[in-house]
Amino acid sequence: MPNTVLIGSQWGDEGKGKIIDVLTRRVDWVVRYQGGNNAGHTVEVGDEKYVLHLIPSGMLHEGRKCVIGNGVVIDPSALKQELDELIARGIRPDDRLFISDRAHLVFPYHRALDGAGEKNRAEGGKIGTTGRGIGPAYVDKASRSGLRMGDLFEADFEDRLRARIRESNTLLSALGAETLNEDEVVQSSLAAAETLKPYVADTVVLVNEAIGRGESVLFEGAQGTMLDIDFGTYPFVTSSSATAGGACTGAGVPPNCIDQVVGVIKAYTTRVGEGPFPTELHDADGQKLRDIGHEYGATTGRPRRCGWFDGVVARYAAMLSGINSWAMMKLDVLDAFETVRIATAYELDGRRIETVPASASALARCKPIYEEWPGWMQSTAQAKSWEDLPEKAQRYLRRLEELTGARIGLLSVGPKRASTILMESDG
Ligand code: IMP
Repeated sequence: MPNTVLIGSQWGDEGKGKIIDVLTRRVDWVVRYQGGNNAGHTVEVGDEKYVLHLIPSGMLHEGRKCVIGNGVVIDPSALKQELDELIARGIRPDDRLFISDRAHLVFPYHRALDGAGEKNRAEGGKIGTTGRGIGPAYVDKASRSGLRMGDLFEADFEDRLRARIRESNTLLSALGAETLNEDEVVQSSLAAAETLKPYVADTVVLVNEAIGRGESVLFEGAQGTMLDIDFGTYPFVTSSSATAGGACTGAGVPPNCIDQVVGVIKAYTTRVGEGPFPTELHDADGQKLRDIGHEYGATTGRPRRCGWFDGVVARYAAMLSGINSWAMMKLDVLDAFETVRIATAYELDGRRIETVPASASALARCKPIYEEWPGWMQSTAQAKSWEDLPEKAQRYLRRLEELTGARIGLLSVGPKRASTILMESDG
C-alpha cells in the first residue's frame, strides 16, 4: 500500500481504530503522530475487543512495526498500563514498538492542571477535556519547559522533574487546587518511565530509512479535523494538529513521502465535550442514533452528542487534508430511519454560507440547511459489496461523495473486520 495518512474528519470517534486495523494488514509500519491518551481506538478482533489509547492499533498484527512519534504526548503510567494489558493478553511488543525520544511526557501535574483549568473556566467556556493532561503537556512543549522521552537517559532528569513539580504546585495553589506530593510523583513517574526505556529510539531516522527502503507506512491520526488546534472549533478543540499536515511534523517525515490521505467519517455526526455542533439533534432521532450507534466515549464513557451528516464539515476536512477517499463508517446505524438528512450549507445571520467559519460563536449561530433523503428501512449489516446495498442507501452515499468531492473507498456496516466493504482497489 502507498504511504497513507489516515485522519478523523469530524469531531473524533469516527471509528479510526477499525479502519487502521483493516489497513494495517497492507503496511509494514504504523505511526501515531499527535495527541495522547485522550484518544481511544476500539478494535474488535474475532471475539476479542481492544481499546488502545497510545499504542498504535498495528500492535495487534504480528510483525507490524509500531511507532509513537515525536508529536504525541505520552503519559508513562498510562502507556505502561496499556503495554502490560497487551502483554497479559499474549501480544508481544518486543522489537516492534518504538517510542520517539523527542515525544513529550505527560505527568500527574499536567492532569491536575487540566482539571483545575477546566474547573476555573466559566460556564459556557468549559471545553469538556478528557482530563488526561493533554493541553498542559502541549503548553509545556510550546513554552519550552517540557520533558521528553530522551531526557529519561540524562543525569539531570530527576532534578528537572522535581523543579517542574514545584512550579506546577505553585500554579495549582494559585488556582485553588490541591498540590501534589513531590516524592510520590517522582517515584511513580520514574518507575513507569523506566519500563519504557527499552522502546525509546530515534524514530525519525527509523521511519525515514524504512520509507527509503520502500517499506510502507500508515500514519494514524487521532481525534478529528474539527478538534484540530488551528482548524477546529477553537477553543473547543484538542491541543494538537489532527489534520493530515500533523503527520509530517508529528512523525518527522517530508510531505512528499505521503502518497494518499484517507478520511474516516461516519454516515452521521457525533461529538463529545463542549462546543458548537450545527447538525446536533436534541430529539428522539438524536437518541436513536446514540442508542443504535452505541455512541459512548471509548476513553471517558461519556454519551456522545449525535446529529445528521454535515456536508460542510466533510467538505472542509477534505480540503484541509487533501482527502483522496473516505472510509465511511456506521452506515448500518441509519438503516431504521424513514428519512435521513444531510446538511449542505449553513445559514449564518441571514446569509447562506458553504464553509466553516473560524469563530466558534459564529458556528454556534449557524443553522444547517438540509436536504432530505428517503431512508432505506432495511438492514445493510450483511452487505458484502456495493451491489448488495439498497438503492436508496446507494443514492445517499453517492450524494455524500458529490457534496464532498471525494470518493468512498471503504464502507463499514458493522463493528467486525468482516463488515467492511472495499469499494475499489486503492493499491
Ligand atoms: P483534550 O484533548 O482532553 O484536551 O480535550 C479537548 C476536546 O477534545 C474535548 O472536547 C474532548 O472531548 C475532545 N477529545 C479529545 N480526544 C478525543 C477523542 O479521541 N475523541 C473525541 N473527542 C476527543
